[in-house]
Amino acid sequence: MKEICTELARLAETDKAALAGELKRQFIERYGGDPSGVRLFFSPARINIIGEHIDYNGGKVFPAAIDRALYLAIRKRSDSKIVYDDLRFPGEFSFDINDSFSYKKENDYCNYLNGILKILKDRGHTPDTGFEALFFSSIPAGGGISSSSALECGFAYALCSLYGFDVSRIEIAKIGQQSEHEFMNVKCGIMDQFIIAMGRKDNAMLLDCDTLEYEYVPFDAADYRFVVMNTNKKRQLADSKYNERRSECMQALELIQAEMRAKGKTPIQNLCGLTLEQFNEYKDCLHSPVLEKRARHCVTENARVLQAAQALRANNLDELGKLLEASHVSLRDDYEVTGIELDTLFEQARKIPECKGARMTGAGFGGCAIALVHKDAVDHFIEQVQQAYTQKIGYAASFFACSIGDGTGVLAENA
Ligand code: GLA
Repeated sequence: MKEICTELARLAETDKAALAGELKRQFIERYGGDPSGVRLFFSPARINIIGEHIDYNGGKVFPAAIDRALYLAIRKRSDSKIVYDDLRFPGEFSFDINDSFSYKKENDYCNYLNGILKILKDRGHTPDTGFEALFFSSIPAGGGISSSSALECGFAYALCSLYGFDVSRIEIAKIGQQSEHEFMNVKCGIMDQFIIAMGRKDNAMLLDCDTLEYEYVPFDAADYRFVVMNTNKKRQLADSKYNERRSECMQALELIQAEMRAKGKTPIQNLCGLTLEQFNEYKDCLHSPVLEKRARHCVTENARVLQAAQALRANNLDELGKLLEASHVSLRDDYEVTGIELDTLFEQARKIPECKGARMTGAGFGGCAIALVHKDAVDHFIEQVQQAYTQKIGYAASFFACSIGDGTGVLAENA
């Protein structure tokens, strides 16, 4: 099984048509029957270039879908049975389309799938048959580049295509987020699902998470690549710490709103609605150095996102790099979501002259960082950072250079 996964990962990078053929072959080997009804889909991972932990504070974010993806093959059955299998974790899980799905620990990754099914059904989109699905992914699991949102959005998109449900990409993103909130109990923002459903090749996306207005910004820095650096840290308690940060922000918002009302002002709707000036005026009402730091991160990070989009439009990578670093420092000191592993990657990356800037990406507490590196120096960069990281942390990180790719879609067999 391991050899098949290695081969599929190789094909994912080199030959999409061959990947499609091999995935279909694996599907028929597992489930038998006729290949003509098998449909193939992909759903990418994402990096967030800048704008961290502010999507749930009504802020602006600047993510991009990348060329690492989850792949899935799916076919309708004639009965009401549902069967899931994954080439990386072989073993079938079965359910029935008429089940009333609920979270169960023993259902492992299928919880993400059942959550999507439940929400689609609640919204009146009930598949009229069962189906069988086979998954493969080249996204590091639990690595902070959103393997779970790739799964949610890819699966929702596949079901909507297979059964002809008229659900827009933006609705698919919202269904993914709703499933995280209600089924998985992670109170995430909308960024990951939105960029995964809506990503566009060679473009980053400036997304206003308050209004969901978005704009594509071309990434045409031809000589530079984003290198993803995975700490390989086992993430424990990441979800509960994430929810804790979210509720700290909510507390800060409520205190500032109350103070604004007391002063006869119209209260802000979310923390990122504060200007830096207003933050300085109101911070004392928080009566807590911790809440003050959390709010400061939101306000300064939101401003950095707009500057970063501007820097990219002007192809000013020196400026973009500085903003990435300021973002990391704020996440380390004010938001406190980095940790020694991410900080080590950050410190080592910025020592390499061909690196314009680096920062953690995603939720933090382990997971991944990104670095903007000259394409000719990528191998040297990885070697240097790996060496220093392993020496300090005691185990190796993983690295790959990525390109910016499209959002969730059909995996073409004749690509
Ligand atoms: C996770 C969440 C996102 C976002 C990031 C932090 O990836 O799913 O909604 O909050 O963390 O920016």
